[in-house]
Amino acid sequence: MCGIVGYVGENEAVPILLRALKRLEYRGYDSAGLAVVGNELSCFKDKGMIDNLQGSLPPIKGKVGLGHTRWATHGKPSKENAHPFLDCEEKIAVIHNGIIENHMELRKQLIDEGHTFTSETDTEVLAHLIEKHYNGNLEKAVLKSLKLICGSYAIACVHGDEKDNIIAARNESPLVVGIGNSENFIASDVAALLDYTNKVAYVMDNEVVRLTKEEFSITTIDGEPVSREVEQVNWTVEDAEKGGYEHYMLKEIFEQPIAVHNSLLGRIPDLTLNGFLDGRFNTIKIIACGTSYHAGLIGKYIFENFSKVPVVVEMGSEYRYSEPTYENTLIVLITQSGETADTVAAAREAKRRGSMTIAITNVVGSSITREVDYTFYTRAGPEIGVAATKTFTTQLIALYILGIALGLIKGTLKYDRIRELTSTLRKLPRYMQSVLDDSENIEKCAMTMTDATDVFYIGRNINYPTALEGALKFKEISYIHAEGYPAGELKHGPLALLTPQTPVVAIAPRDHTYEKMLGNISEVSARGSPVIAIGFQDDTELSKLADQVIFIPEVPALFSPVPITVVVQLLAYYVARERKCSIDRPRHLAKSVTVE
Ligand code: G6P
Repeated sequence: MCGIVGYVGENEAVPILLRALKRLEYRGYDSAGLAVVGNELSCFKDKGMIDNLQGSLPPIKGKVGLGHTRWATHGKPSKENAHPFLDCEEKIAVIHNGIIENHMELRKQLIDEGHTFTSETDTEVLAHLIEKHYNGNLEKAVLKSLKLICGSYAIACVHGDEKDNIIAARNESPLVVGIGNSENFIASDVAALLDYTNKVAYVMDNEVVRLTKEEFSITTIDGEPVSREVEQVNWTVEDAEKGGYEHYMLKEIFEQPIAVHNSLLGRIPDLTLNGFLDGRFNTIKIIACGTSYHAGLIGKYIFENFSKVPVVVEMGSEYRYSEPTYENTLIVLITQSGETADTVAAAREAKRRGSMTIAITNVVGSSITREVDYTFYTRAGPEIGVAATKTFTTQLIALYILGIALGLIKGTLKYDRIRELTSTLRKLPRYMQSVLDDSENIEKCAMTMTDATDVFYIGRNINYPTALEGALKFKEISYIHAEGYPAGELKHGPLALLTPQTPVVAIAPRDHTYEKMLGNISEVSARGSPVIAIGFQDDTELSKLADQVIFIPEVPALFSPVPITVVVQLLAYYVARERKCSIDRPRHLAKSVTVE
């Protein structure tokens, strides 16, 4: 996720672009840059946040310009990889939010044709593609270029010789036009514009916008004119940053289908991780902390199922002080921030022990990436809420992809099965969306849990860790004690705690443990505890046993933690909201724990 902004009007562009960018900083903050059309095209960019850019900016004059704040997905955060990108002649400047899936082949082709690249990013191919197709009309060149790219994007570009317009386009990444008096704007979201206007027009997928100071016009990617109404928004800047949601956490929960979609883009054709993996290891150890540890526990089921290699999962804080053993172990470290002290130290320790190491992280260039042999990036975008949501589900996606790669290398997955698995992976955003569409029902169920003092989450097999994650989300934001338990273990202790005031969330998709789960639900009901069951659509048996049921679409059991996680996140959220808790910043907790 990055933030983009554009201005064309009668005022100097730089102060307006900087102010708008500051409003977008929550969308990314590892580097930033500006391009302004004055007498000629000037471009300036730097590593770091907007203040850093502002502090080092030379005087640049011009009334048309673009600005970008970056959250890296391709290429580490650096001055070279910051946007805007220029073509070889330095006439065209492009900014982009999204992922260009086929950038490698386009880059190769453009290099063969004589173009010179200056960065490692996917975006730079666009600057050169537009240059290739430019024939005195930027809009036409953009239309031609967009036909050649696959992926998600919101882009904006300017040309040094076209001093009165900006061309922008959208596919799957947000883009909005702001309408002022003799000035117009383009931005990733309304938050960037509210200091200047509250009149906006939303750009839709596969549409291209031409913006001058007097007007804006929209066409389809095929050049067909489109008419679009101008709307008035009455949001505060804070509302706008949260996209109209009450909390960042809720926004981030709802962003999960797109975050998962982005994390899958371009990954499925490359299941061998660029040839990095070889099959020399005979065990796998997954190391992580907090929510990432729960992702690791789910990863164990995925890896063992796909590759038949035994997997152990350890907490970072435990591994680093454990006794080295003589296994040939592949170490997989999971950390959304890439900075958790215990996980980073575990990576160092694993290297010292001679293991091959892979990190799964959401932050390009974070500390862990400097310690490991290979990094797999999730593409959740920045997560502001302390409670991890979209970073967790995208970690699961990374684990499915890595698991398939392991299965390929170990020869335990045949191509038909891989095709089946990747086809399910592609459907996950849809399944998650259908859970989100049922949020009203989930909210209703949550309202029955608001006065509890203890809650149990139970599940079996791959959904035992989902139960742990449900309980963690619940306790960290609602401050109600919650515990996750393997359902089969209830009778070894927790049953003694069950009363009519102890709700039990039972995760019961129709898999090979289903019958046993039904037995556990009956056990719980017999103690008078209210049961909220999560199961597959139209499961009438479950409806008969449980007090309330939340249905998810039927998915292969191994993938069920993904939609079920969305349910447990929403349950926690609604209970915490009802109890007026500090949802985005729970007491005593931090987003990134850089101490032992
Ligand atoms: C903190 C955060 C959790 C996170 C954990 C591990 O406790 O509040 O949300 O799961 O750290 O963080 P990591 O960045 O390593 O995934």
